[in-house]
Amino acid sequence: MNSDVEPIQLFVPTFQIEETLKEIRECLEKGWTGLGFKTVQFEKAWCDYTGLSNAHFLNSATAGLHLAIRVLKLEDGWQDGDEIITTPLTFVSTNHAIFYENLQPVFADVDEYLCLSPESVLERISPRTRAVMFVGIGGNYGRLPEIAAICEERGLRLILDAAHMTGTRWNGRHVGHEADVTVFSFQAVKNLPTADSGMICFRQEHLDQLVRKMTWLGINKDTYSRTHSKGAYKWMYEVDHVGFKYHGNSIMAAMGLVALKQVDLDNAYRRQISQWYEKEFSTEDKIKTIPVPVGCESSRHLYQVMVSDRDEVILALNALQIYPGVHYRDNTCYQMYSYAQGTCLNASLASDMLLSLPIHMKLSYGDVQRVSKALIEIVNRNRVDA
Ligand SMILES: Cc1ncc(COP(=O)(O)O)c(C=O)c1O
Repeated sequence: MNSDVEPIQLFVPTFQIEETLKEIRECLEKGWTGLGFKTVQFEKAWCDYTGLSNAHFLNSATAGLHLAIRVLKLEDGWQDGDEIITTPLTFVSTNHAIFYENLQPVFADVDEYLCLSPESVLERISPRTRAVMFVGIGGNYGRLPEIAAICEERGLRLILDAAHMTGTRWNGRHVGHEADVTVFSFQAVKNLPTADSGMICFRQEHLDQLVRKMTWLGINKDTYSRTHSKGAYKWMYEVDHVGFKYHGNSIMAAMGLVALKQVDLDNAYRRQISQWYEKEFSTEDKIKTIPVPVGCESSRHLYQVMVSDRDEVILALNALQIYPGVHYRDNTCYQMYSYAQGTCLNASLASDMLLSLPIHMKLSYGDVQRVSKALIEIVNRNRVDA
């Protein structure tokens, strides 16, 4: 173990501390830390930033993915056991959300972008398919327009798990316009870090209205606002649905409002780091880089490569105080999704080879050089010594 060098971590969140504290202070002084006030400001700022028409602030993207499916199930009358085509190469939140609503995840394979392959999606469509769940892994846009076209033709809903995609643009336009519903994550290590929160953006206005009820226990706030405005009977609301306690709060929104001003600048630096890595690896045939399609300005939440003997490579990097990550294990490796094991060969291969290299605002050019050179040296050893 080499202990005289600084460790290099995969992710290190960076906050605008003074400005964030000022924004949070406003909540404390006003005595308003919950739903409303800053959450309303942040929703508006998010719509302005993305150009999306609707945005509702949540306590996490996991909650958002659940709600996306719950609301579409209600709206379209989906039955238990109906199918959603999804990717095995994601964080389990994506696929758990399908199970939360007693629907069936049907796994399609990924392509060279590590996103859902349109060809594989087409093969998995059945009479019970109701939606496709697309994950823009690491900020990559993959072949989303083709997936959107398939959904349009086949009358399927498109749900976009954009947990990694804050700031990803396609031909200059922010992502989210392609899907019936898009869910973003502002969890602590994401590109727009709070502590934990997320945003759900429905294309249809009435579904945005519905999701607002669902995030507050199903309480009909119209009734609340009516009685509230008369200054009496605040308790006289209606409860239309068995909803959840999933809404975001003003402290998280205060963090988000400050981080939003910074995110494009941060993402530009993430793309710079990615270019530095790409340059180093351009002549290395043992390090496979992941392409980004022309037209996509990726948020570069992740910088991923594929290498053989990945687990040994990680141990060798760790010995040099470099701590990469893995995004993700093929979800069909997990017990609850094992029914689909062996159905997605690209995902399964990627799952064994993927390596996420350090990428964050505190990483210097010298750090990127240190990581790149270490990785190049390790993969080119005749035998990997852990
Ligand atoms: C692809 C993906 N989807 C969903 C989530 C869930 O986000 P959250 O932590 O905000 O619930 C994550 C979080 O890591 C993720 O990576």
